[in-house]
Amino acid sequence: MSQPIPFIDLATQRDRIRPRIEARLARIMDEGSFIMGPDVTELEAGLSAFGGMQHTVTCGSGTDALLMPLMAWGIGPGDAVFCPSFTFAATAEVVGLVGASPVFVEVLPDTFNLDPAHLRRTVAEIASRGDLTPRAIIAVDLFGQIADYPAIRAVADEFGIKIISDAAQGYGSTLSGEMSGRWSDVVATSFYPAKPLGCYGDGGAIQTDDEELAAVLKSIRIHGMGSDKYDNVRLGLTARLDTFQAAVLAEKLALFPEEIEARMRVARRYGELLPAAVTPQAISDDIVSTWAQYTIRVPGGRRDAFMAQMKERGVPTVIYYGKGLHQQTAYRHWPVGGNGLPVTEQLCTEVVSLPMHAYLDEPTQDRIVAAVAESLDAISHTA
Ligand SMILES: Cc1ncc(COP(=O)(O)O)c(C=O)c1O
Repeated sequence: MSQPIPFIDLATQRDRIRPRIEARLARIMDEGSFIMGPDVTELEAGLSAFGGMQHTVTCGSGTDALLMPLMAWGIGPGDAVFCPSFTFAATAEVVGLVGASPVFVEVLPDTFNLDPAHLRRTVAEIASRGDLTPRAIIAVDLFGQIADYPAIRAVADEFGIKIISDAAQGYGSTLSGEMSGRWSDVVATSFYPAKPLGCYGDGGAIQTDDEELAAVLKSIRIHGMGSDKYDNVRLGLTARLDTFQAAVLAEKLALFPEEIEARMRVARRYGELLPAAVTPQAISDDIVSTWAQYTIRVPGGRRDAFMAQMKERGVPTVIYYGKGLHQQTAYRHWPVGGNGLPVTEQLCTEVVSLPMHAYLDEPTQDRIVAAVAESLDAISHTA
């Protein structure tokens, strides 16, 4: 077996910024500013500038970032929130946590993002049924690629409902040069270490241009505080971002634009060199993706065999996601739009992600591409 390569490399970036991060962490220890310290304020300003949004409220995780706007809008029992099923659990989990009902919508077979036509039909169907009130859409920027927000905004406007952009994977992705906040009421992101912009623990952020909402989110972040943290005007959470994590992120944010470009270069090169038989996630020319994952489809029940062949060649692969949320035990009692989600279910049997990060050099890319070609060849002889 060849020398294994890592699926994701966080060490190269860490070595670039280590002295700067260590200096910040030492200062925070000296100051004792562990909670809501100056690095949090600095990071929030930096993120607002990067995202072109007026307000950034950092928080404890990407899940908090999705949950808090639902709490702020008073979404709860009897309400419907529309989201894809082909996503990480947190997207729908937060809806269930506030007592509302997630309603699962289909994705497109090429971009893997929300299918706006299916979304429209599903919202109309729920609105006419009358037992649930449509309140919001959570659109996911899957694997780093911005969803079709202009079309999703049209649906939201038609039904008078909100949009949360779940940019946990795609924070920084653009459509015609604009990030998802251009069309959504709120952008929620995660700083989980493996995300394109990740910290060294858990973290998240919410961005909005709505000043009133930002004030409520800041209150929810600290136990529903009013004039001070011992004045409790609503229910809230312990949902602050640690100062340590903000310090790490402030250094990483400085590298982020060049890292997005590097990821785009890797993805373009993969796209050029991978065998023609491979179908990667489609991306149009007007989109910059953060390529949280580089995902291809291996149809015909041959995915497991493909992954085993890749492993033999020292190339790790991972399945995101092997089950739609509507197929998961905790989620299967909630409604599914239209006549089911055949595209989602098909994708779950075919998708497999290849190594992807900003520091993936060309010789390693070439090794991965060669392994894909050889693995496909090997399984075509055994099929
Ligand atoms: C699409 C999506 N939404 C939400 C989350 C939740 O983020 P966190 O793990 O920071 O709570 C993640 C990642 O973990 C994710 O991939």
